[in-house]
Amino acid sequence: MAVFVSGTGRTLENFCERIADGTLRARIGVVVASKECPALDKARARDIPAEVHPGTLTEAALRKVLERAGAEWVVLAGYTKLMAIPEGYEGRVVNIHPALLPKFGGKGMYGMRVHEAVIAAGEKRSGCTVHLCDGKYDTGPIVAQASCHVRADDTAQTLAARVFELEKELYPRTLDAMLAGARESSRA
Ligand code: GRF
Repeated sequence: MAVFVSGTGRTLENFCERIADGTLRARIGVVVASKECPALDKARARDIPAEVHPGTLTEAALRKVLERAGAEWVVLAGYTKLMAIPEGYEGRVVNIHPALLPKFGGKGMYGMRVHEAVIAAGEKRSGCTVHLCDGKYDTGPIVAQASCHVRADDTAQTLAARVFELEKELYPRTLDAMLAGARESSRA
């Protein structure tokens, strides 16, 4: 997998732990960010190749990064740039969004803004969505969701923490199933 980050790298850390305990049967070949960020330091601390590519990667540049790393999957883990889908990677570019898509997605809907919008809309439930990327913001096919209650006294922070706990289970589990499915069909 090539893992794309922009932030704190909690998702990356979680992947590393799940790979170590065998729940995510995968290898991280490279971690990519559009700017220096704590997530890149976490990659370096684990001796995973870490690269900075400022701005939006062209399809050709992205392909080069993936081929160099031997990556078969592109996994977005808090990456905030739009991602082109290189030829041959259709159905292999995956993202997680901290809400129940198709609601509360789209350009500018990331981080605390998502949870603030969920609370402002008076939603009773929120959660997270693993979806395939289609070159637009948060509109690709949904693969899996997990949900939780929105409590009357929730702030964006308390809701974000509850949703992230769901992400820590859903994302590695879903990726593992997707990767295993692909291995299975390439053997058939
Ligand atoms: C999570 O909210 C996830 O839904 C979103 O990015 C956040 C994780 O960022 N895509 P990080 O792993 O803490 O950097």
